[in-house]
Amino acid sequence: MDLRVATDAKWVDLVLNNIDRFIIDHAQTKRKSAHAAMSMLTYYPDKQNLVKSMLTFSVEELQYFQRVMHLMHQRDLTLLPDEQTPYINLLCQHLRPQHDEYFLDQLLITSIIEARSHERFSLIAAALGEGDLKDFYQSIAQEEAHHSSLFANLALHYFSHEAVTIRRAQLFTAEAELIKNLPIKACVH
Ligand SMILES: [Fe+2]
Repeated sequence: MDLRVATDAKWVDLVLNNIDRFIIDHAQTKRKSAHAAMSMLTYYPDKQNLVKSMLTFSVEELQYFQRVMHLMHQRDLTLLPDEQTPYINLLCQHLRPQHDEYFLDQLLITSIIEARSHERFSLIAAALGEGDLKDFYQSIAQEEAHHSSLFANLALHYFSHEAVTIRRAQLFTAEAELIKNLPIKACVH
């Protein structure tokens, strides 16, 4: 998925030792993704392809939110108050203010976040023993790969191949720096 650095193996150990905390954080990320997609749809009402895609995407994210909540209920877990995610906040600092550039950056940053989610859910699925939880994370890893492509393809729909390639490379480099420098937590990001 073009990520420049791999997640540290220590992150996998940390998550496996705090799997309930990870599942709660995972639920929050699904809710936030669905919300962000609905905001984007509202912000660009004239972009038909985007509106259609964001509607489908937000429904998919909400369906996964529901599945994670089901998992939480089985484990007697409840949601926690919202917390800031430094990884997301710092990536968003790369959003350029000019309207078109902002839109391109939004699409590419979301594609990168989904690519990182795909990598991390794949790592968790591989590390878990056989069972429902492993199957769940395998299926969600596939979904995140699909979402990463969705946003990359939207960028290519609205912008030139050259503009997308140049900016994508810059943002992947910025993301790699964040991954190298941010402390690891038992969270998706
Ligand atoms: Fe996703």
